[in-house]
Amino acid sequence: MTNPSATDSKAVKLAIVYYSTYGTNHAMANEAAEAARAAGAEVRVLKVQETAPQDVVNGQDAWKAQQERSANVPTASPEDLEWANAILISSPTRFGGAASQVRTFIDTLGGLWGTGKLADKTFSAMTSAQNANGGQETTSQTLYITAMHWGAILVPPGYTDPVIFASGGNPYGASVSATGEGLSDTDKASIRHQAKRQVEITAKLQ
Ligand SMILES: Cc1cc2nc3c(=O)[nH]c(=O)nc-3n(C[C@H](O)[C@H](O)[C@H](O)COP(=O)(O)O)c2cc1C
Repeated sequence: MTNPSATDSKAVKLAIVYYSTYGTNHAMANEAAEAARAAGAEVRVLKVQETAPQDVVNGQDAWKAQQERSANVPTASPEDLEWANAILISSPTRFGGAASQVRTFIDTLGGLWGTGKLADKTFSAMTSAQNANGGQETTSQTLYITAMHWGAILVPPGYTDPVIFASGGNPYGASVSATGEGLSDTDKASIRHQAKRQVEITAKLQ
């Protein structure tokens, strides 16, 4: 549902691409989608293809439950990114970088990149990690490096709102310490601020 008082940003088409083993980044993607829609954007929430063998997924109840929860979420394709003029990626931290499932999806984008179709879109990144200092910043930063290769327009939140300080002070993007308790109010507020700001900045560029 669009908010009639929001910025006139109907031209903003935001692809929110996430991977989530246990649900944190799925919840982050949904939170961002709600804020972006309220700001007037057309939004696609998309999961990346699971690459782990199914018997490995089945071996962990929490992983299997998340797979079932996201069964109806469409799987991201290069065409979704071609459609979008704004891209937001949310990935768990894996040893200080993005999950291999996200990197595998990114590695399918050579064709789009080669024809210039990834250029000039806004880009922002979010992550979660078990530990506050367990690599949240490097995960976001390495996603921004990839987006720079595309010729994307980076839209990190910086310190553009007090909620960035309240939520841990990461200027690169919303980052959640995954405790298994779900998103805190400050997590949600920082995600919503980041998504809304990306929509507003993308709208200015149309
Ligand atoms: C293989 C692997 C590597 C991980 N590496 C890190 C890490 O470097 N730092 C950290 O704090 N947490 C690490 N974690 C924890 C994940 O970041 C955490 O489970 C994830 O953020 C939860 O997000 P999700 O619920 O969307 O899957 C790792 C988890 C796995 C399975």
